[in-house]
Amino acid sequence: MQIRNEITGDTPAVSQLVTEAFGTLPQSSGTEANIVEALRAQGALTLSLVAEDDGEVIGYLAASAARIGMQNGWALLGPLAVLPSRHRQGIGTALIAEALLRLRATSRGAALVGDPGYYGRFGFRTFIDLCVVGCPPEFVQALPFDGVEPRGELIHHSAFGLNQQG
Ligand SMILES: CC(C)(COP(=O)(O)OP(=O)(O)OC[C@H]1O[C@@H](n2cnc3c(N)ncnc32)[C@H](O)[C@@H]1OP(=O)(O)O)[C@@H](O)C(=O)NCCC(=O)NCCS
Repeated sequence: MQIRNEITGDTPAVSQLVTEAFGTLPQSSGTEANIVEALRAQGALTLSLVAEDDGEVIGYLAASAARIGMQNGWALLGPLAVLPSRHRQGIGTALIAEALLRLRATSRGAALVGDPGYYGRFGFRTFIDLCVVGCPPEFVQALPFDGVEPRGELIHHSAFGLNQQG
């Protein structure tokens, strides 16, 4: 298995994989593949990593530029998806580890909305003043690379369709 940048020929497989992986989640909006496609179309993918095994795309992780409060320079991680038949083999962990390694060189930190039970193991945590309006606070997490506490709303790229105040 290798983690590499997405190439043009991967895009149908990535959309299918993201749809399939999120299809297993009752809380899925069903729009995750559309979000990836919109980020890609707008040139907003800071990172677009695939996990490939034996010529097959089995995992995917996107990152895009984000803001927390008045602070630019954050990277928003997600969507993250692993082929359901390949869950619990360390593929999600490998994608996140590679993303964090790369983002440390370019961003002040990484942030996301996701399950704390999963992302806590990578050092993500909640912060008292970190939020996304309308989202339960325990799901809004960050990993500041400089140790400075993030304060304010995590503003996603408009491709996420959250209608946040820019
Ligand atoms: C979440 C996801 C990316 C994890 O990928 P993965 O390759 O199976 O993850 P890893 O093998 O690296 O890690 C698996 C571990 O995480 C745990 N885990 C997976 N999802 C979890 C969750 N939502 N909450 C807590 N733990 C979780 C597994 O139980 C496993 O624990 P173990 O190592 O103690 O056995 C994958 O389950 C997936 O694609 N899910 C559907 C889409 C999704 O939820 N994306 C993230 C949205 S924020």
